[in-house]
Amino acid sequence: MYQRPGGYSDFESPRVGLLAFALDYVHKTNFVEQASPIYNFKQGQPLDRVERWQTVLLQIYLSALLSIQRGKGLTDRAFEVLRESVRLGMTEAEKEVLLPVVRVREELSRNDDEFEVEDFGAGSRHHKGARTISAIYRTSAIPHWWGVFLFRLVRGLRPQRVLELGTNMGVSAAYIQTALDLNGSGGKLVTIEGDTGLAELAGRNLAKVSSSAVDIVAGRFQDVLVPTLQRFQPVDMIFIDGHHAYDAVLNYYKTISEYTAPENCIIFDDVYPWTLPVRRAWDKIVRSNTTGSVFDTAKFGILIQ
Ligand SMILES: C[S@@+](CC[C@H](N)C(=O)[O-])C[C@H]1O[C@@H](n2cnc3c(N)ncnc32)[C@H](O)[C@@H]1O
Repeated sequence: MYQRPGGYSDFESPRVGLLAFALDYVHKTNFVEQASPIYNFKQGQPLDRVERWQTVLLQIYLSALLSIQRGKGLTDRAFEVLRESVRLGMTEAEKEVLLPVVRVREELSRNDDEFEVEDFGAGSRHHKGARTISAIYRTSAIPHWWGVFLFRLVRGLRPQRVLELGTNMGVSAAYIQTALDLNGSGGKLVTIEGDTGLAELAGRNLAKVSSSAVDIVAGRFQDVLVPTLQRFQPVDMIFIDGHHAYDAVLNYYKTISEYTAPENCIIFDDVYPWTLPVRRAWDKIVRSNTTGSVFDTAKFGILIQ
């Protein structure tokens, strides 16, 4: 059993993960995903009592985790940014800028057009072959609450260069880009997607939420990551949400680390205890990383330098 400042012991991790999964599952299955747990509106209607409770539970869970992990080596800066990222309720400015994102989510959730996607092996086990857009959306796009979390990390850390691995239809990118827009400091997003059809669809979705040009690179991570980093460095924030295989995650982390700014934030999605390859890679990264702060929500694994 290991214990690293900011991380969980092997014993704690499955229990925390189970809770994270339960809450995430409730959000995913309960259409709130399409609406907005902390946005406090569902297609213009206030959330019902159950939905409000789900939202409050998730936020209590994350706030409690944050308090536990504060004692395990989070820096004051990381703690402040994370505390702001998990706070309850939304400001008027957040509601205004995220409304178009919620609308795009609603559109995608109702779009039953067939869509053919390429197979990236371990990278896209959820959606190879022909499926409807709404089905791909349900299995691949980040749940709304976690999107708001990402949005707030971008607001708090104010990165100038953000890189995303795994664009899919551009849902997570929409939260990142709208936060960069609101920051108003000219921050840029580059996002990589292997499937050219998805990359094009993402471009159309992103144009609905932001007037900024998002740079969508169509290509396999294995082929385009290094050239992308060479032209877009140093990167301040990276969101890794694709190709969930052990060696791949470690390799991408190692490659990206050579191109990061001294103060940076790397977010790994899906570090649940039972998505073993990603969890094992994340555990190894946390063990080898002796500087900076770690916040492990058992869904997002976050490293802040
Ligand atoms: C879980 S989805 C990303 C979801 C997106 N970040 C969101 O929340 O809206 C993962 C995406 O990564 C892409 N992908 C997986 N492995 C890849 C690889 N090796 N190269 C390029 N893209 C890959 C898949 O095509 C898929 O669209």
